[in-house]
Amino acid sequence: MQSKKLHIKTIGCQMNVYDTEQIAAVLAPLGYQLTVAVESADMVIVNTCTIREKAEQKAFSFLGRMAKIKAAKPSLIVAVGGCVAQQEGEAIPRRMPFVDLVFGTQAIFRLPELVHRIEQTRCQIVDVRTSSSLAFNEPLAGLTKEKRVSAFVTIMRGCDNFCTYCVVPHVRGREASRHPDRIVDEIRMLVDQGVREVTLLGQNVNSYGSKEGLCSFADLLERVNGIEGLGRIRFTTSHPKDLSDVLINLFGRIDKLCHHIHLPVQSGSNEILKRMNRNYTRENYLERLARLRDGCPDIAITSDFIVGFPGETERQFDETLELVKTVQYDGLFAFMYSDRPNAPAAAFSNKIAESVKKERLQKLLALQESITHDKYQRMVGKTLRVLVEGPSRTIDEDFKGKRTPPLRYSGRTTFNHIVHFSLPKSYRDKKELLTGAFVDIMIVGTYAHSLRGSVATNMPNANMGKGGSTIAA
Ligand code: 5AD
Ligand code: SF4
Repeated sequence: MQSKKLHIKTIGCQMNVYDTEQIAAVLAPLGYQLTVAVESADMVIVNTCTIREKAEQKAFSFLGRMAKIKAAKPSLIVAVGGCVAQQEGEAIPRRMPFVDLVFGTQAIFRLPELVHRIEQTRCQIVDVRTSSSLAFNEPLAGLTKEKRVSAFVTIMRGCDNFCTYCVVPHVRGREASRHPDRIVDEIRMLVDQGVREVTLLGQNVNSYGSKEGLCSFADLLERVNGIEGLGRIRFTTSHPKDLSDVLINLFGRIDKLCHHIHLPVQSGSNEILKRMNRNYTRENYLERLARLRDGCPDIAITSDFIVGFPGETERQFDETLELVKTVQYDGLFAFMYSDRPNAPAAAFSNKIAESVKKERLQKLLALQESITHDKYQRMVGKTLRVLVEGPSRTIDEDFKGKRTPPLRYSGRTTFNHIVHFSLPKSYRDKKELLTGAFVDIMIVGTYAHSLRGSVATNMPNANMGKGGSTIAA
């Protein structure tokens, strides 16, 4: 079969990263191989995101570039997938006639047929139908994935929560969970391919299975924990209102579950939370965190925040800053509010000026920077177990300018910190063993958003058992 080159530009969340992998996998049998070079591609797919205005602008500016490339190379197939495709549908080829294919978030499994039709007839297709629950539950066995240490696995799609600022329920549709057997099958297959860590993905994993009467999310975690050869489990995202005690109690109790939870709070003000339709209060949220820390004292907690929600006063924003000080997060993502189509908050009055939003964003980020800095400093001297993800692009500053600086690797702690470390000379013959291994690393320094370590064990430890008394996790 003729080999063709496919370039995929991924914008947005981990859900899109996962979808991109699926897109690459379903198109491989048609002869498409991935390339990083847009210019040499036979087909370019933009996997778009619409969660915030900025993400959407990014997609359109990339497509602007594609228009030029296509003008010089008319045989190029240009496709738009993901949330913007789902939302805009027919409007995309109307606005950008050079686009050959628009496919929605539930059309991935129909892609081979759609692309084949375009190759044959050069017709223009828009497929934003929302009916692939069957395909979604198909096991993915047989699809080739490149070798890696950590992988995402989608366990559910859509969302039923309708936070007033959010476009997700409008483009991704209602919540639907995958059957646990399919999820376990997929993870087993990934483990066979060398994956050691999975991140279970969903808009609100805490309500997994409830609608369909499948098992609970906690039950699913216990099942995944039993998969032999798997070393670590993460999940994202959790909605604070659905964080059950059963789930809270799993932290620190099942051995593969990482000591980290991403629990987006969005605001520290009860009035704003109410208008966001979040269905919890600042007090409920803090109580959940206290329980988490009770059961698992070293758990890392991260969050998302929106600043400048319509009508947000200085006092309400101060409540957000206060919350951040109280919680002492391990990290956070902060976003300036932007209107999204179909999201009710777009029609709310008292919109906040861009300049005020920027100022609040910077204040919040600066506060967190100082907290992160202190937390990182406190890690120095500790020995932590790191899952090695592969060679690092950083250079060891102790060896800057030297002719043969040591090989550098990087990986993550259970708390999701990135750690860079140099490989001692005596380890060089074992370096193939390193990627995917658990290694105990002594933290010796900090960078702005990662840690610097040195190897503390004698051997790359390919079996991920417990052992080692100095290990924090
Ligand atoms: N404006 C700004 N940020 C938003 N988010 C979602 N919708 C919007 C919006 N309209 C943020 C929330 C969410 C994260 C993924 O994106 O913080 O948790
Ligand atoms: Fe959007 Fe709220 Fe659903 Fe998250 S829980 S995807 S913010 S509607």
